[in-house]
Amino acid sequence: MRILVTGGAGFIGSNIVDRCIAEGHEVAVVDNLATGRRENVNPGAEFYEVSITDADALAEVFVRERPEIVNHHAAQMDVRRSVREPQFDAETNVIGTLNVIEAARELDTRKLIFASTGGAIYGDAETVPTPEEAPLQPVSHYGTSKRSAELYFELYGRLYGMQYTILRYANVFGPRQNPHGEAGVNAIFANMMLRGERPTIFGTGDKTRDYVFVGDVVEGNMLALERGTGETLNIGRGIQITDQEVYDAVAEAVGFSEPPIYGDERVGDVRHSCVDPAKARSVLGWEPTVEFREGVRRTVDYQRERELR
Ligand SMILES: NC(=O)c1ccc[n+]([C@@H]2O[C@H](COP(=O)([O-])OP(=O)(O)OC[C@H]3O[C@@H](n4cnc5c(N)ncnc54)[C@H](O)[C@@H]3O)[C@@H](O)[C@H]2O)c1
Repeated sequence: MRILVTGGAGFIGSNIVDRCIAEGHEVAVVDNLATGRRENVNPGAEFYEVSITDADALAEVFVRERPEIVNHHAAQMDVRRSVREPQFDAETNVIGTLNVIEAARELDTRKLIFASTGGAIYGDAETVPTPEEAPLQPVSHYGTSKRSAELYFELYGRLYGMQYTILRYANVFGPRQNPHGEAGVNAIFANMMLRGERPTIFGTGDKTRDYVFVGDVVEGNMLALERGTGETLNIGRGIQITDQEVYDAVAEAVGFSEPPIYGDERVGDVRHSCVDPAKARSVLGWEPTVEFREGVRRTVDYQRERELR
């Protein structure tokens, strides 16, 4: 199939590109390298350094590539930046997404897959693990822009019969995650510990997140090529891991023996975030396979290798 991956130079997108190419698909990547890296892009993919906010340039790529599938991962995904610069966040995540959807509609793209978020959309949910039907109460501009983007997919489904699958990810971790940003506590901890620096845990370490390994997320995207049309599906393990457990697992994998620094709780941080993957199991036949500690070991191995390069 001809697949266009937006954000294909980023952490999750580039892992999807690799898998698509390994399975014999023809892949094009659109990425403006805002946070992604050129070296992440598989040499077997056609690369376009284009912003999804540039509707004309994007439309040209679509005309050249005529993708059957669009896998939309490009986004501004820094929660704190979204609060500081809400217009920038909305421009990328709402207008940019609308540009992608419109370009796909013009060319009769068969299906779109959209990377949305669980934690940032459900907010402080009453039910944990949180199912898809739970109230949506984002507590950041990022969560709101992602939800807005979801609404456009739903609208285009109703108006034009557009086929789509929305995947709401838990906290994704694994090789190629950026250790310098706000997201990706595994990568941040691993990077610091490998340099002999003590990471900070904000709060007492009892906040929880649901960590899903990037390889499992890629598998969810592959299954969504043929299944789950018109559905919104959580992609997570449904298992809560505390910040302290993350610290301990990374420290063990690195061989780091110092305790963390405990900092002040950060305003706006959700206390517990964990999604219920039951629907993805039944609709996609998706099953997460990489256990948390194994995922941490693979992430640390990757970071260690990068340090040596
Ligand atoms: N990492 C997670 O835990 C997580 C959780 C939920 C949802 N998501 C979603 O998954 C997707 C990928 O996230 P990631 O973790 O790989 O982050 P990432 O920052 O590594 O990937 C995002 C990619 O989008 C590109 N990009 C940003 N703005 C762009 C623009 N205007 N035009 C073209 N490309 C642009 C970046 O350069 C980058 O390569 C995002 O949509 C994010 O919201 C991620």
